[in-house]
Amino acid sequence: MASQEQPNGAAPTSETDYFAGNPEPASLDQTTSLARDFINYHAANKRRVALVTSGGTTVPLENQTVRFIDNFSAGTRGATSAEYFLESDYAVIFLHRQFSLLPYSRHYSHSTNCFLDFMTTSPSGEVVVDASYQAQMSAVLQRYEKAKRENALLLLPFTTVNEYLWDLRALATLMRPLGADGLFYLAAAVSDFFVPAQRMVEHKIQSSEDFTHANGGDPGAAKPAAQMDGKSLVIDLDPVPKFLKTLVDAWAPRSMIVSFKLETDPALLAEKAHYALKKYAHHLVIGNLLNTRKYEVLFVSAAGGEKWIRVPAGRRAKSVTSPRPEDQDGASSRETPVEIESLIVPEVAKMHSELIAKS
Ligand code: PMT
Repeated sequence: MASQEQPNGAAPTSETDYFAGNPEPASLDQTTSLARDFINYHAANKRRVALVTSGGTTVPLENQTVRFIDNFSAGTRGATSAEYFLESDYAVIFLHRQFSLLPYSRHYSHSTNCFLDFMTTSPSGEVVVDASYQAQMSAVLQRYEKAKRENALLLLPFTTVNEYLWDLRALATLMRPLGADGLFYLAAAVSDFFVPAQRMVEHKIQSSEDFTHANGGDPGAAKPAAQMDGKSLVIDLDPVPKFLKTLVDAWAPRSMIVSFKLETDPALLAEKAHYALKKYAHHLVIGNLLNTRKYEVLFVSAAGGEKWIRVPAGRRAKSVTSPRPEDQDGASSRETPVEIESLIVPEVAKMHSELIAKS
């Protein structure tokens, strides 16, 4: 079959070419070793294991990276979902963007809910939790300590899309013996375009025309993906292969696979979610819109068709990680706000039980 050429002269990257052409991250051995011990431990105890991916991947423009392209995601969906999976008795591998939100600490980690604001100094001079936050913090602490006691949460960080893809492949391979007890919950916002290793410049791209020769030494080398053209920076990215297909068909054929679909245009959401389900033939697509993702999502599955999951009006959590006005619907002070992940995760776990029963 003739392969379609890209404008930069390179053939489109297939999944297998990707790993041949883009180097293994230095952290992969450690990631693999930690994950192997974790998975073996829970497989021996017949506990279900969920791989939750979270946060955005970056695309570095230089090998010694000063500039990079980022993908939108605070990590709220992933970190919050991970907590509810733990509550549903899953062991959780949390593959997350370094420094994005983490399960449990997410409650106290941002400038709008800095942990220092929850502390006070007692009359005897000790630093203690303020009385008004004791109940809430104690509940979070108890859940956190339970997860630690049970060795039920493994935190694995990534930064670049390359690290993410190598990690995903390694983890999927390690999880394969779990069979149907494995669950993939792919909430990370994964880059669709990247700079392949062979077209990445080594040093910081110079903005001054007087210094632009610094990165363009070898005339036989592949055309750099990012370079100055006069005063403009021109960036020419390759597509990242869609690994969802390979995950479903080859890396984790017996596990339950849940992907997310992020859109901004409401008219496209259902159609794109159905398209993804048909194309990748996995179990569930969860569609969400950028502006409403904290209180409504659309489940699309072969088994259940289309189903909206919504937080009732008046029970929407006041957003602390996203200060956009549309997120600030705000529950009334008398009603406990509901996190949409507390509705999503039990539905996913139920579908997973049905799949396990069938298998
Ligand atoms: O963290 P928050 O701020 O709470 O935001 C959460 C979220 C909006 C980021 C999350 O809910 C979400 O929608 N995540 C998926 C975003 C995304 O990458 O959508 P996509 O349409 O680009 O990709 C769809 C699926 O294909 C994803 O599950 C992804 O894992 C997969 N993919 C993407 C790119 C790629 N090259 N290969 C893939 O397999």
